[in-house]
Amino acid sequence: MNMPSLKEAKKRTDKRVETKTYKKENKYQELLKNKTFYIKTYGCQMNEHDSENMIAILKEYGMKEVKDYEDADLIMLNTCSIRENAHNKVFGMLGRIKHLKGIKKDIVVGLAGCMAQEEVVANEILNKYKWMDFVLGTHNIHNLAEIVYDSFKDRKLKIEAQSIEGDIIENMPADRQNKYKAYVNIMYGCDKFCTYCIVPYTRGKQRSRNKDDIIKEVKDLIKEGYKEVTLLGQNVNAYGKDRNDNYNMANLLEDVAKTGIDRVRFMTSHPWDFTDDMIDIIAKYHNIMPSIHLPVQSGNTRILKLMGRRYTKEEYLDLFYKLKDRIPKVAISTDIIVGFPNETEEEFNDTLELVNKCKFDLAYTFIFSKRVGTPAEKMKDNVTLEEKEQRLYKLNELVNKYALENNKKLEGEIVEVLVEALSDKEGFVMGYSDTNKLVNLKGEEDLIGKIVKVKILEAKTWSLNGEYVE
Ligand code: 5AD
Ligand code: SF4
Repeated sequence: MNMPSLKEAKKRTDKRVETKTYKKENKYQELLKNKTFYIKTYGCQMNEHDSENMIAILKEYGMKEVKDYEDADLIMLNTCSIRENAHNKVFGMLGRIKHLKGIKKDIVVGLAGCMAQEEVVANEILNKYKWMDFVLGTHNIHNLAEIVYDSFKDRKLKIEAQSIEGDIIENMPADRQNKYKAYVNIMYGCDKFCTYCIVPYTRGKQRSRNKDDIIKEVKDLIKEGYKEVTLLGQNVNAYGKDRNDNYNMANLLEDVAKTGIDRVRFMTSHPWDFTDDMIDIIAKYHNIMPSIHLPVQSGNTRILKLMGRRYTKEEYLDLFYKLKDRIPKVAISTDIIVGFPNETEEEFNDTLELVNKCKFDLAYTFIFSKRVGTPAEKMKDNVTLEEKEQRLYKLNELVNKYALENNKKLEGEIVEVLVEALSDKEGFVMGYSDTNKLVNLKGEEDLIGKIVKVKILEAKTWSLNGEYVE
């Protein structure tokens, strides 16, 4: 048992981050081969990519993926802690799985991901979910085969989710869900400690991967036929700051662009570390997509300060306008939280005002959710849930208006689209434009995997309809 500890998770020391190499252990193969597994993934791209690693590890041992949890020998939930409703969904699913385990006693049930790193969750599982087989933390993914093997052998609850600052594990296999677009982790963890956010506790300290490992991964992906990479991290702009080798995000973006891959994206950016050098590189390379996710969280400086975001409303706007100015046709999306503890109506109106200025291409909006162990958990809050819901509704109306307005500007324009799949509608295919807009167009399978020019005919709030040009 290695239980997570909130106290340990809060620590940041000078301990050197080690880079370790994943290795397959043949001794697990005999027992695991031909068993079936089901993985359900909650949350962000980081979790999606972790699942791609976990699926590949299980397949490496001869296990077979099934699409229905009722058919699986192993059921795993790769969980998210970011807001309470993510938690609730997981506990709801565990209720259904418990019922199944009552009937099929020999299945193995495990919980991985961010919730596994929460002390409160691990304790709850230890006390009320003893029927489960394992809990595997975000720092232990490379030990997946071992814990699954042990679970099939003894079916006693095991928890491997110690709160450490974390290492970097290279060479893990990945079973990528998309054949043309790949996620590439460039860093793990986060040291920003925004006061509402649980990520620094569940994902450990900021650890940047070695640039050579990243570039090699991108070059290998090109050889395999991938057209697009998304460089992933909680705060990618801070890439390299923990390595002291004078190599930063601007350098990395340039080197990834120089590999010649058709499209480079990156996420998520924190306004704090967005340098002029980065802006120059994005503007200079045609294969770095003009699409930036730049979470603002609030348009009020007092709230931003309470959130620990380290910028004022004016500083955000300055950066926003600079990006718009220097990167032709850049699309900027954002995240916004409403109902932070004690946010007044006027402060919320500042957020609306900022949205009116920025007219974001897309905004993900959330009601503040109290996370155990974060500084904001302790903040007194006089805003009712009803008020928060009204604010969210109002905000959504506004952000949707601008999403549509931005899309409308593309009507009649020609955009480049990486076609990635058949669309739900027969005779249509879908893909994403350079500015990351979902585009549907008439076409057949032969277009899939190609970057094509599309004339936009009709704009909707969440997507565009167009016709193939060439
Ligand atoms: N409550 C609500 N939203 C949150 N986010 C992060 N933590 C919380 C929380 N406690 C949002 C932020 C972040 C996005 C990934 O999730 O907007 O940018
Ligand atoms: Fe959370 Fe802030 Fe880190 Fe983003 S930058 S993961 S919001 S602590």
